[in-house]
Amino acid sequence: MTAGSRIVAMGHYQPSRVVTNNDLAEIVDTNDEWIRSRVGIAERRVADSESVADMATFAAEKALASSGLAAADIDMVVVATCSSIDRCPNVATRVAARLGVNAPAAFDLNTACSGFSYGLGTVDHAIRAGASRNAIVIGAEKLSDLTDWTDRSTAVLFGDGAGAAVVTAAAEGEQTGVGPVLWGSAPDKGDVLRIEGRQPYIQQEGQIVFRWATTELAPFALQALERAGVRPDEIAAFVPHQANTRIIDGIVKRLGLGPDVVVAKDLVESGNTSAASIPLALSKLIERREVPSGAPVLLFGFGGGLTYAGQVIRCP
Ligand code: UT7
Repeated sequence: MTAGSRIVAMGHYQPSRVVTNNDLAEIVDTNDEWIRSRVGIAERRVADSESVADMATFAAEKALASSGLAAADIDMVVVATCSSIDRCPNVATRVAARLGVNAPAAFDLNTACSGFSYGLGTVDHAIRAGASRNAIVIGAEKLSDLTDWTDRSTAVLFGDGAGAAVVTAAAEGEQTGVGPVLWGSAPDKGDVLRIEGRQPYIQQEGQIVFRWATTELAPFALQALERAGVRPDEIAAFVPHQANTRIIDGIVKRLGLGPDVVVAKDLVESGNTSAASIPLALSKLIERREVPSGAPVLLFGFGGGLTYAGQVIRCP
């Protein structure tokens, strides 16, 4: 048993192919102005040959390389994804094999866009219970495989990518770096976002998801702060799921965050990458040194299910 866990390092990967709004305007009836003003996205990355497991592995390799740990130290690999086409072996064991991690607990987890916070919460609990000492949690998505490129209402929204965190047991007396998870769902609304059937496309009642996100989620984000014993005016950064800048701005307002709080808006350049969006955005903030080490950061994911999860972490 340990007192808790902390994130020691992060890494991310995005495919090299950039697809701009103008590129999309050539294949569906849309335009740059509509996408920027209604969603906030300017461009997204789309994978060519890379699979979910490839992108997850590349992100995890980077996180592991800057963690100071070796593959042999890792005993748990968790991959949050809703877009892996392959069912078995799971993505986590593929990643573990390629990283050279020997005999880890390895599983995939699907709560769509809230998956990284669910995965981080699960790993934190495993470490607290003594079931793991050093874990890797990854959010990885290839949503381009599930996109109907003739449907303008969804084709402009999504992107591909992965982000990963190395999480380790906090040493005796050390401040823990992963706060209590606040997680839940509104399963009665589950059908408003679907990826179903044998050859599925993403379908959503966008306005209903939008209304839910802007009217019902802020109290849960506040509860995540309360559970960590951190006030809204104490956080250095807010990294919400990257679906729509208008949703992010609405939640920021309801949380009463001040102008000094760094608010991640990676969707501008990455689109909505579902379970990858939070670790991707967080990894970039850390790489750009936009948040000081040790500073409290609120993560909050939400999406398909409809699920949500969040926690306060200390920036590695
Ligand atoms: O990550 C998973 C969770 N998902 C989300 O959080 C998504 C939440 N929802 C949203 O972000 C927004 O609802 C969308 C961005 C999906 C849509 O924005 P909206 O402001 O709700 O637009 P709308 O669906 O009400 O459509 C408004 C108009 C419609 O035309 P009419 O009926 O007013 O003539 C649409 O047909 O915009 C039209 N439209 C488009 N126009 C140009 C829909 N898609 C497009 C498009 N380009 N790509």
